[in-house]
Amino acid sequence: MPETVLVTGGAGFIGSHTCVELLAHGYEVVVVDNHVNSSPRALERIAKTAGRPLTAAYDTDVRDRGALAEVFAAHRVDAVIHFAAHKAVGDSVARPVEYYDTNVGGTCALLSVMHEHDVRRLVFSSSCSVYGDAQNVPLTEHSPVAPTNPYARTKLMCERILADVCAHLTDMKVLALRYFNPVGAHPDGLLGEDPHGVPDNVMPYVAQVAVGRRERLSVFGDDYPTPDGTGVRDYIHVMDVAEGHRVAVEHLDDDTGMRVFNLGTGTGTSVLELVAAFAEASGRDIPYRVVDRRPGDVAELVADASAVAAAWNWTTARDLAAMCRDAWRFQELNPRGYAR
Ligand code: NAD
Ligand code: WQD
Repeated sequence: MPETVLVTGGAGFIGSHTCVELLAHGYEVVVVDNHVNSSPRALERIAKTAGRPLTAAYDTDVRDRGALAEVFAAHRVDAVIHFAAHKAVGDSVARPVEYYDTNVGGTCALLSVMHEHDVRRLVFSSSCSVYGDAQNVPLTEHSPVAPTNPYARTKLMCERILADVCAHLTDMKVLALRYFNPVGAHPDGLLGEDPHGVPDNVMPYVAQVAVGRRERLSVFGDDYPTPDGTGVRDYIHVMDVAEGHRVAVEHLDDDTGMRVFNLGTGTGTSVLELVAAFAEASGRDIPYRVVDRRPGDVAELVADASAVAAAWNWTTARDLAAMCRDAWRFQELNPRGYAR
């Protein structure tokens, strides 16, 4: 019998790519998503890209315990991957209650329904933002955590809740993955990142400049203590993030309890290096101008990715050129994202 994985937030950027990866490896996949930040069209594209349909998809809010219980009653769920959350840092400062409600409340609702249905295996989306303004890079899983905004605090709170649950339910198996900066798209050009409104993140912004939807990129500061003065991040291809989740599901039974891993490449890239790589991949000019630093930004966030490599014998495979090439292909083929 193939395993059934319930994917919350499965229509979103990382969730949709992970669904394709799971389908390609024979899993039955059930999606729960209320589409607050995604299009139901992503679900059609998942089936098309994977060449196999999802087992089921529910337009359901993870905070709705009753509706969630019906999903668990209808499927024998072997494992859950929990992506559903709000994720915009600035928005979290403006709407903290919504962030705590969805991210922390949604995780609690999910955990209680999992418990009622004896589902004990969970992969949780955490974030490099839990490290805050890091003093020493690369960051290992033992680096100090010091989140600097409500979004990041919701992720750290969820990690702490999960650790407490694991201490109580000793047969629970939880993997919390702290992703660094996921970017790129599926190479077939059907699935990608489709942010609503003006993109907060640099890669979708650059892609929209390249395709002519925006005039120029604002580079937030060139006076950081980095080689070219612009912010350095650990960009990771979303296909590697998706693969990492499938591999995580395969390793859930390695141990009981709560385990935390970074999901990054270990390579830092500056904003100007990213712009140059995107221009090269797309053959387009990326006009930019340097403006003030964005409040709350940090100079450099790069993962020490060795723990995951040692635990799972797995590393990321795709470089910056592939990230830009695939993000560009999606942008060029879908200039308005999933909107028809
Ligand atoms: P996304 O917004 O594209 O996907 C999240 C999905 O969850 C969306 O489809 C949204 O509609 C859904 N959702 C939100 N609230 C919901 C609710 N109450 N009930 C049901 N569905 C709900 O974001 P993403 O980039 O794919 O991120 C996925 C996860 O990874 C999030 O938990 C995010 O915090 C985490 N993460 C993302 C990044 C990043 O840079 N993209 C980095 C680190 C961690
Ligand atoms: C990257 C670099 C900016 C936009 C965010 C979240 C983090 C995690 C990943 C969820 C920085 C610069 C950006 C622009 C720019 N998400 N930049 N012009 O801030 O590293 O991380 O996504 O967990 O929690 O904070 O990503 O893509 O916004 O910025 O110059 O228009 O690009 O200053 O150096 P960030 P980002």
